[in-house]
Amino acid sequence: MNYKKIISYAALSLYACTYISSVKAIETNTKYKREDYVKKMPKEYEFKSATIIRINDAIYEYMLDVSLREPQPMRRLREETAKDSQSIMQSPVDQGQFMALMVKLTNAKNILEIGTFTGYSTLWMASALPENGKIITCDVSPQWTSIGEKYWKEAGVRDKIDLRIGPAENTLNQLIEDKTQEQFDIVFIDADKSNQSLYYEKSLKLLRPGGLIILDNVLWQGKVVDHSFDDVDTKSIRTLNAQLKDDSRVDISMLALGDGVTLIRKR
Ligand SMILES: C[S@@+](CC[C@H](N)C(=O)[O-])C[C@H]1O[C@@H](n2cnc3c(N)ncnc32)[C@H](O)[C@@H]1O
Repeated sequence: MNYKKIISYAALSLYACTYISSVKAIETNTKYKREDYVKKMPKEYEFKSATIIRINDAIYEYMLDVSLREPQPMRRLREETAKDSQSIMQSPVDQGQFMALMVKLTNAKNILEIGTFTGYSTLWMASALPENGKIITCDVSPQWTSIGEKYWKEAGVRDKIDLRIGPAENTLNQLIEDKTQEQFDIVFIDADKSNQSLYYEKSLKLLRPGGLIILDNVLWQGKVVDHSFDDVDTKSIRTLNAQLKDDSRVDISMLALGDGVTLIRKR
């Protein structure tokens, strides 16, 4: 072995030793850091994933651009509703499409909707029902619901919709008296928020086991976490949200969709 070869073997061995020890150092270091991170993680971050995304306008627009399939009657109804001073009450378009998907996923045939407004959510759900499907929807306002009726006809789903005008509590009591208990596949709760718990309890009676309640406005424009708001509606929403967590009659999942939606499956 000549002089040059001895030098290059020595350099190679030195490089290999340095490399192996640096890899070990990285491994040890990573392990140490990870354990340290887990130990030090503050309690409030325990459930958070590193991949939770904070939606901004650009991301929301992107979501709509690449996923929204709003049919013409829904779009026209939404445009007419936008002229109303109370248009904020209408479900957002992506929520409409989401609820239509829920109807199809659950093979729902019988739906109950509490709070019709101009019938935008009614239209999405009715359009997703099979030909023999039915949706009972109730509201106190003949004016607002009459706006929806035009578009229900235009979409060819008017015959699937049974509109009941009057206080929702009366409509629900009537359905319970009519022995329609455990008949509904889906109940969408979206009326006066002060009665959130009352509608939930009555809906549970009317829902079949395995059926789905879609509970709207559970985040109430963020007022649920801002304790400077202690109005009846906000308190009522907070109360039911808190009760649902320990309600062993149901399975739940709360989604940051629209103004917050909790999916509730009756056991
Ligand atoms: C948030 S809006 C419903 C929105 C509709 N589900 C949608 O997604 O487009 C609430 C509706 O509940 C109705 N409402 C309020 N109090 C009611 C009651 N006691 N009984 C029945 N409907 C009621 C209002 O007239 C209003 O149209």
